[in-house]
Amino acid sequence: MRISSTHRPFRYELTVPGDKSISHRSIMFGALANGDTQITGFLKSADCLSTMACFRALGVEIEDAGDIITVHGKGLHGLSAPQKVLDAGNSGTTTRLMSGILAAQDFASTLTGDASIQKRPMKRVIEPLTAMGADITSEKGNGCAPLLIRGRKLHDIEWTSPVASAQVKSCILLAALCSGCAASVTEPALSRDHSERMLLTFGADIRSTKNPDGTFTSAIAPAHDFTSPGKIVVPGDISSAAYFLAAAMMIPGSEILVKNVGINPTRAGILTVLERMGADISAENANVSGEPCADLRLKHTELTVPGCDENGDLVIGGEIIPALIDELPMIAVLATKLPCRTIIKDAAELKVKESDRIAVMTENLKKMGADIEGTADGFVINGPTRLHGAEIDPHLDHRIAMSLAVAALAAEGETVIRDADCVNISYPEFYRELMELL
Ligand code: S3P
Repeated sequence: MRISSTHRPFRYELTVPGDKSISHRSIMFGALANGDTQITGFLKSADCLSTMACFRALGVEIEDAGDIITVHGKGLHGLSAPQKVLDAGNSGTTTRLMSGILAAQDFASTLTGDASIQKRPMKRVIEPLTAMGADITSEKGNGCAPLLIRGRKLHDIEWTSPVASAQVKSCILLAALCSGCAASVTEPALSRDHSERMLLTFGADIRSTKNPDGTFTSAIAPAHDFTSPGKIVVPGDISSAAYFLAAAMMIPGSEILVKNVGINPTRAGILTVLERMGADISAENANVSGEPCADLRLKHTELTVPGCDENGDLVIGGEIIPALIDELPMIAVLATKLPCRTIIKDAAELKVKESDRIAVMTENLKKMGADIEGTADGFVINGPTRLHGAEIDPHLDHRIAMSLAVAALAAEGETVIRDADCVNISYPEFYRELMELL
């Protein structure tokens, strides 16, 4: 994919595709429920289609009628043994959440994924599941997929996770749900709470609390009944919206309106950071009937960075990190345009995403002329710098490709993005929409 710079201001309005995290969960929870679930706004990207294929392989009937997906729920004990290895593709959410579900079934299965998935750490789910009595092993003994899972009834657990991870938390909650036992998961900061919100709408008894020491606990009681609410409406994905908000931040005179975006506070850290950079951003038509959502309008302004500390640095770290973890590649690009130093810290998790995002962003932004250094848990970026076109290798990581495609709009000359179609993981229409800005 070749992308040329643009200096022409744009005014553009768009709707981004459905939220990836919520789309995965809508299939999973719908499959485990009694009754049918009609999903609107479902994200038909490679990751969510992997989840769909896995559940079909477990005997769940899922109808795709274009705008509406209908999952015919099997109930908590209705999945059947798959006839083949389950393939999660590139999806960490599929792999980790399904591990919890499969560990509690009365059949054995093998779960794997692509080369990236086979390198990502699964010990973080193997350990708590084993502590619940599960029989789950890494086939190669390296703590990664393929995972051999011999399902069985699990028992109660109180687990403290060293990382704030919604995937780990949801894996344990789903394992407990399927085994009819109780579980509590304590994490150092609050990770996205889509599972907890959706579990509530299906009638589960789940509570989340902030503890006096600043940690967070989500606890589920043994489930007797798990019934579909009938309909799930998936809002637009704030992680996809972030690329377009950032584009308007970077091109003077521009204005963007992204409609119907999920602004769940456990996901919306990007909005706080954009404000700290000096963005003129507003949320309109806020709607809180399901997951909170709103239309987001951003008008380009000079980036004055009112959120700098007393040293003049913009520091992004601490408990906001889980609420913007997937947006950090885009934030790193924006930081190259700020008249200050940006320090991104407490984000070592970036190393174990679809790629090592610290290494891959540093390598590629350097090629574009940025003053950036990767650290053990983030980046240090000195701005402002003029970016120039370069040949980008996103290492098959969708979020790196999209972040650098936006950087390319504001860079001098032409940028070539290798393996550009990796964006299909979360946003198949991304380039078509981006080209509308030119
Ligand atoms: C996700 C949780 C996050 C996020 C990922 C999707 C989810 O991962 O990075 O893209 O749907 O639960 P962790 O929870 O492992 O940080």
